[in-house]
Amino acid sequence: MKKEIKPLEPDLMDKLMALCKHRGFIIPGSEIYGGLANSWDFGPYGALLKQNIRRAWLKHFVTSRDDVVLMDSSIIMNSRVWEASGHLQNFTDPLVDCKKCKKRFRADHLLEARSLEPGYDKEKPVDWLEIKCPECAGDLTEVRQFNLMFKTSVGPVAESGAVVYLRPENAAGMFTDFKSIQQSMRQRLPFGIAQIGKVFRNEVTPGNWIFRTREFELMELEYFIHPRGWEKVFDMWLGEIKSWLKSLGVRDEHLYFHEIEGADRAHYSKRTVDIEYNYPFGLKELYGLAYRTDFDLSQHAKTSGADLTYTDPVTNETFVPHVVEPSMGLERTVLVTMLEAYHEEEAPTAEEGATDRRVVLKFPKHLAPIQVAVLPLSKKEELMGPSQSLAQELRQHLVVEYDETQSIGRRYRRQDEIGTPYCVTIDFDTIQDKAVTVRDRDSMKQERVKITEVVGYLIKKYS
Ligand code: GAP
Repeated sequence: MKKEIKPLEPDLMDKLMALCKHRGFIIPGSEIYGGLANSWDFGPYGALLKQNIRRAWLKHFVTSRDDVVLMDSSIIMNSRVWEASGHLQNFTDPLVDCKKCKKRFRADHLLEARSLEPGYDKEKPVDWLEIKCPECAGDLTEVRQFNLMFKTSVGPVAESGAVVYLRPENAAGMFTDFKSIQQSMRQRLPFGIAQIGKVFRNEVTPGNWIFRTREFELMELEYFIHPRGWEKVFDMWLGEIKSWLKSLGVRDEHLYFHEIEGADRAHYSKRTVDIEYNYPFGLKELYGLAYRTDFDLSQHAKTSGADLTYTDPVTNETFVPHVVEPSMGLERTVLVTMLEAYHEEEAPTAEEGATDRRVVLKFPKHLAPIQVAVLPLSKKEELMGPSQSLAQELRQHLVVEYDETQSIGRRYRRQDEIGTPYCVTIDFDTIQDKAVTVRDRDSMKQERVKITEVVGYLIKKYS
């Protein structure tokens, strides 16, 4: 039974999208050509946010541990990889078209929507003929399977080139290179190989902004184990995912850990948990965690003829390693991090006693695209000179933005909207008392700090 979780306000998505476009976090792809449906570009702040998430993920899942190594495999692989993994045959979505308006839908999504309707009887099988087009109520075609892999060819002449595919997941590289990495890194089981990289899926119904797109980044980890005790390993990675989500600022009450029942699991999986989030458009998958047994290495060994077994140096037992796989989309991570960070609140203005509504992205500090803003109170030379030198000194240690335009109040609001944790203001008193004002994004408290100490003071905030 699914827990009832109230979705975030539906208009939060629109507000966030508008803010992201306005402030250059996420902008429509190919916009000057009228765009390309469901393609999104990450502008300067978005690209920095993504980079910070990648870095934090790397630390959390790889470099802070002694049992996981990193790799970066090719996007275009030998096509037999996809034969072995089952993607050529099974990486499909069920597709239907509306006979009247010609719109295309995923049959499973229509069935899911049906199951949420009032009066739905779980025991009674749905008559597919009863399901009509959600847009125009027209009749739908028969369901057919559509392969999601993007096909292309290598070599200068398309007709005679070898057919290849853009990888739809990173995992394959970790499986094909398992033995090589295990041996070169002298790893003993249990150990993991992790990878962050772009993947491509020709989704039938992309949408909900960056939630479902045709190219996205996966942060994935294959943890190779002896099958004995897999349950404990599974729980350990579930715990790691939970603590990772906490570090992003994701609130527990927005999450649902969905234990996938036997019939709904991939045939090779013995346990799968979908980590779901209550997006403004409903409770949907954020990440996945699966115990994939020895399916992958066995399949690759069978198809390639390579020996992918492992011999335990203590027991001398030789076996095909089993795998537990945490798999996390980067763009969905960006989305939930931003949904959690978005706040609107009443805040005092520069005018005595007055307030206005401020929008503030309360990112965890280590994820904020800009770490410190340096803001001279006026454009007068005696303030700009020391401000620019301070900004330059800070840039050696932190990510800094220097801004001398508009009123100080508007500059604070702008930094709030991009989530900058600290603003440093240089004012006319600075010339006399050799101190600057440091403003905290969340409490809006201001503190006077000596100019000679402010660099160390801010570095400490991030260490
Ligand atoms: N190797 C396992 C695997 O690829 P998946 O559930 O197909 O599993 C893993 O994908 C994760 O990738 C999802 O949990 C989600 O975070 C992300 N993801 C999947 N499809 C996506 C899409 N079209 N756009 C953005 N992110 C997506």
